[in-house]
Amino acid sequence: MSTRETWGSRAGFVLAAVGSAIGLGNIWRFPYIAFKNGGGAFLIPYIFALLTAGIPFMILEFGLGHKFRGSAPKTFASISKKWEWLGWLQIGITFVIGIYYVAVIGWAISYTFFSLTQAWGNAPKDFFFNQYLHLSSSPLELGSIQTGILITTLMAWIITWGVLHMGVRNGVEKISKIFMPLLFFMVLLIIGRTLTLDGAMNGLQWLFKPDFSKIMDYHVWTDAYGQIFYTLSIGFSIMITYASYLPKKSDINNNACMTVFINCGFSLLAGIMIFGILGHMAAKQGVGVDEVVSSGVGLAFITIPTAINTLPAPVFFGTLFFLSLTVAGLSSLISIVQPMVSAITDKFGCSHRRGVALICIPSIIFSIVFTTQGGLLLLDIVDHFINNFGILFCGLIEIILLSWICRLDVMREHVNAISEFRVGKAWTFCLRFVTPIVLGYMSICNAIGDLSANYGGYSDKAILYYGWGVLGILVLLALFLHNKKAIDSNYAVVDQSLWR
Ligand code: PHE
Repeated sequence: MSTRETWGSRAGFVLAAVGSAIGLGNIWRFPYIAFKNGGGAFLIPYIFALLTAGIPFMILEFGLGHKFRGSAPKTFASISKKWEWLGWLQIGITFVIGIYYVAVIGWAISYTFFSLTQAWGNAPKDFFFNQYLHLSSSPLELGSIQTGILITTLMAWIITWGVLHMGVRNGVEKISKIFMPLLFFMVLLIIGRTLTLDGAMNGLQWLFKPDFSKIMDYHVWTDAYGQIFYTLSIGFSIMITYASYLPKKSDINNNACMTVFINCGFSLLAGIMIFGILGHMAAKQGVGVDEVVSSGVGLAFITIPTAINTLPAPVFFGTLFFLSLTVAGLSSLISIVQPMVSAITDKFGCSHRRGVALICIPSIIFSIVFTTQGGLLLLDIVDHFINNFGILFCGLIEIILLSWICRLDVMREHVNAISEFRVGKAWTFCLRFVTPIVLGYMSICNAIGDLSANYGGYSDKAILYYGWGVLGILVLLALFLHNKKAIDSNYAVVDQSLWR
């Protein structure tokens, strides 16, 4: 068996992990969640979630990857042959995320070009839904493929494929070292220009004005935990895989803290960028910032273009904003595909480059559905189910396995032995109690919510096919791959030390 590639430097690894963590969620999700949940006061639950779940879980996943030096399925198979399916389920989830995440990057690429002329004119909403997406009226009506979207989606795939083809050290690491500083630079540039505009400071006041009454509401706390899990890309194979390329002598605890803090620092910058822009627009329109704020697709492709129209240098702001979105998205997409490549090369013994092709080709084919007229609606349902069930449940099962069924203290010793600073009982406590309780509670709430009403008012059929159906297929696929024989009989040697 060939030896596993390793990262060339510590900074390279941290930047790649940061590249995964920083994604669309930091830009279009964090600012809105913070605003909605008490502004400045939201930082309390957010930092609490970061300390009690984010950092401990990140240390655990880095430790797992480093200890077992394998993809998620191999890691779980090395804990127990009975648990390999969990890794494959996580891999299935990354597959589904990849095929729709890329479509959004495709839109961002299109909008980078549109920014040159503000092609959206003075009706960005109509432009996005009707002239760009040609949105159909139901997710079951896919209509035709939109060539413009297909082309930019393929561009995103070509970049991703190219980077992965070069390997971990020459591809992923090199591009992260370019993309991450570039991303920070672009966002700082936007902020620097925005803050001098009329109303921008007022926008920041809306974002940071603390409303402490909100933090008594438990929704605010579950939102904080949900955002921490999503934004850190933990619980679904990515960080385990990235850490599997660490050299033997690597600091785990410190690297995990750095990754978390850089990611969350970027979220704050993104908040300042978005609310500065929105503050200026609100001032121009003579309304409150609360009337213009939104999140997700609506924020990026409707509200921001509307705001760009009111800015003094629209080409500057527009191209930089959408380029930032593209760069943030691409580095996350790369981190979504790499775990799948690693999983199949580990188990089926194909070469890295062939593995990349074997994953990219079906991913490209499946992602074409998201370039059709029904793409956005389909994406909306799939994204909801994957976030609310897939990621959450996999994280929950993973944490229960490691902290209740296995001996977490073995993992603690493992990470402490190689790290600059040590984690103690508090780490174990957070992983055994805080994280499973919060994740368990959120999973139950989500299950009740989705079983009692169709998400987004979509039809039963749409929810059944694209929501529950997709989840069901992922479970079957995980079981199938679990039962397939590995090419190498030493594929995963069970580590008995983790068992009581
Ligand atoms: N952490 C990324 C973000 O905040 C989200 C992500 C999701 C990354 C899925 C990889 C995979 O946008």
